[in-house]
Amino acid sequence: MISKERRRSILAQGKTAIQWEGEPMLGGMYGEEEVEAATAAIRDSMLVSRGFGGNSTEIPEFETAFAEYVGAKHAIALNSAGPGLDMAMRYLDLQPGDEVIVPAVNFVASPLAVAGAGGQIIWGEVDPQTLQLDPKDVEKRLSPRTRAIFPVHMNGLAAPLDELVALGEAHPHPKHGPIPVIGDAARACGASYKGKPLGGHGLLTVFSFHTMKNMCTLGEGGMITTNSDDVATYCRSVRFFGMSGGTWGTSNVMTKVQAAVGRVQLAKLDSFIAARRHIAALRNELLADVPNLVLPCEPPEYTHSYYLYTCLTPEDRRDALLKRMDEEFGVRCLVANRPGYETHPYLRAATPGQQLPLSDELGRRIFCVPIHPAMSEKDNEYICAALVECMES
Ligand SMILES: Cc1ncc(COP(=O)(O)O)c(C=O)c1O
Repeated sequence: MISKERRRSILAQGKTAIQWEGEPMLGGMYGEEEVEAATAAIRDSMLVSRGFGGNSTEIPEFETAFAEYVGAKHAIALNSAGPGLDMAMRYLDLQPGDEVIVPAVNFVASPLAVAGAGGQIIWGEVDPQTLQLDPKDVEKRLSPRTRAIFPVHMNGLAAPLDELVALGEAHPHPKHGPIPVIGDAARACGASYKGKPLGGHGLLTVFSFHTMKNMCTLGEGGMITTNSDDVATYCRSVRFFGMSGGTWGTSNVMTKVQAAVGRVQLAKLDSFIAARRHIAALRNELLADVPNLVLPCEPPEYTHSYYLYTCLTPEDRRDALLKRMDEEFGVRCLVANRPGYETHPYLRAATPGQQLPLSDELGRRIFCVPIHPAMSEKDNEYICAALVECMES
């Protein structure tokens, strides 16, 4: 833990120049390379015969590079991750009463996709250490109506995929067979599980390239990765009005300018993750053994992308701590996430009677301390000093 003298001297130097947020508005870093890639793609589109059309090479090139990076057979670029989650649920062709298990401590996107496709959301508890969907709890919630297990790789760490896949295989659906695992990796691009990047596991994985995410394609964007030819054909069809596969569809295409920038960002992704991990490692030492502060967990064989640096503190302290961090030290922590049924009235109405005690408790204890690949060691030290100061008083 950072010593009292060092802490005081760091804090005496004053606030950081950047006002750090728990989830900074730009999650990666942009440079001239992205500007040049975007400019070249725009120039290439200025001919009347070319335009920004979907027949460009940029999109398939980005898809191929992304599929290679994650080790999946297919990658399908989208305008954002949300439609990818919707496509995943629509692919299941859910019938009334069909159930999909999602973690309760979660962003609203994946449960909304379940409800939007006509499925019944079944909330699952998360492991209080990893904050990932807990296989032991999932097992209790499986039923003959379960159509998918839908882990979210919360805050940049992988969910326990092998255990979840094994559960799905051990409890096949009476009509559809093994229950598929569908991953929401919106916050975990660049993370890996048992030595392999996320994206080649389960039936399919959905990534986000929204402005806040580990890499971004001009503010919005997403990708589905899968090893299933059938899933890939379906998603490509839905992505453009069902034209290529005779399915229902709408328009969820990525632009060629986004794809051109995506290739540049992808080439930098490992360096972004390394920078996040460097800050996290320093921080883990500076904050080690602070009473009443639980630090993020990285189990062996997992590589956390540290999209968020997620901590727990006793529930009677959390809100006052965040207020003081902001008002006195100019550091804005984030609560990510309280249970979905608490943050979205539609989700509450869609899951009557489902209340999860552990998720409720974690929702009152969780908070995320700002982290970013461009954060200096000095800013990190200031943030840690401020946090210890607040925790100790
Ligand atoms: C866990 C999670 N899932 C899905 C999404 C949706 O991503 P997008 O904004 O690309 O649609 C987000 C974005 O904030 C997210 O954090």
